[in-house]
Amino acid sequence: MKKKVHNDSIKNLLSSVVKNAPYGMIAIDNCDQIVLVNDQAVSLLKLDVNPNELNDLVIFDQIKHVEQLYFKLTQNSENQHQDFNLDALQFDDKFINIRGRKIVEGYIVIIEDITRDKEMEMVALNSMLEGQELERRRIAKEIHDGIGPSLSTIRLLLENISSENNRMDNTKFTGQMSEILDMIDSITGDIRDISHQLMPKILLDFGIIPALENLVNRINRAERIKIIFYHSILSERFPELIELGLYRICQELINNAVKHSLATEVQVQLVEHPDSLILMVEDNGNGFDKTSIMKENPGVGLINVESRTNAFGGNFILDTAISKGVTATIEIPLEK
Ligand SMILES: Nc1ncnc2c1ncn2[C@@H]1O[C@H](COP(=O)(O)OP(=O)(O)OP(=O)(O)O)[C@@H](O)[C@H]1O
Ligand SMILES: [Mg+2]
Repeated sequence: MKKKVHNDSIKNLLSSVVKNAPYGMIAIDNCDQIVLVNDQAVSLLKLDVNPNELNDLVIFDQIKHVEQLYFKLTQNSENQHQDFNLDALQFDDKFINIRGRKIVEGYIVIIEDITRDKEMEMVALNSMLEGQELERRRIAKEIHDGIGPSLSTIRLLLENISSENNRMDNTKFTGQMSEILDMIDSITGDIRDISHQLMPKILLDFGIIPALENLVNRINRAERIKIIFYHSILSERFPELIELGLYRICQELINNAVKHSLATEVQVQLVEHPDSLILMVEDNGNGFDKTSIMKENPGVGLINVESRTNAFGGNFILDTAISKGVTATIEIPLEK
């Protein structure tokens, strides 16, 4: 038979839960007096309160220095305590989330330290910007080194033709003209390649499925690794940015499998759910140890995959271990 737990034991249990909670907690009664506060709250909000000597302190006097919280709580006191959220508040040298929740005999304030999440977001954003910067530099280089010299040569040839004017014999003239035409063709090709790198034409014209099929077929033609692509897409098109994002993510993950994994096979799956798209890229290669790679060899590719996914409010899960291959799952929510 279960024993009835004594009231004091429940109180002790509750205060131990509050004491050991992974976030700061302050319980306040209907007269706005603090009835319970833990060390985490004292430290995060820099309170001048001893959790053991509350003596029914009024909350407002203690949190004047956290202006937004003070404002919310005074406003809240007049409105009979509504729930409230203060997100990513910058206080002291930290970022904190503060939630106010109504409970039976008052309300409870929960303070969560999100400084680390914010720092990670900044790192991801910086890496994405760095990635974009690298891509811009690469394209600028291709335009400068590839198209620039060809145009200068065409200019030289045309100058020559115009200076020799009628003195140039027919064979020489035809030869130089055909050289110019060849160079114009090659520039047209270069421009097409560069613009395809910016936004593949097939993706613009026909959408994500033909674009991925095309990407996979191109790699399969090299016959070093077999890429198998399945999909269950019924919608004709998705927002252009999501299509481009998924295409770039897929390109990076396949490229990683080709470059690093020694895999013989990569499975790519794109599945449409009513409110999301799920991309899964799985290789049967040598996998890697996430913790040590992050320290020793953090590339830009995976960080970009993560920040692209985050930009769509999605989730990126990378499941891998040495000799276990790599499975990357990306879920992107769809607005209906
Ligand atoms: N499919 C994979 N199989 C085995 N190792 C992988 C795989 N994908 C990534 N890795 C490991 O993780 C590291 C980080 O990958 P990431 O894509 O971020 O950078 P990278 O490919 O080295 O460089 P880049 O910035 O050009 O993408 C790689 O260097 C590699 O060691
Ligand atoms: Mg990479």
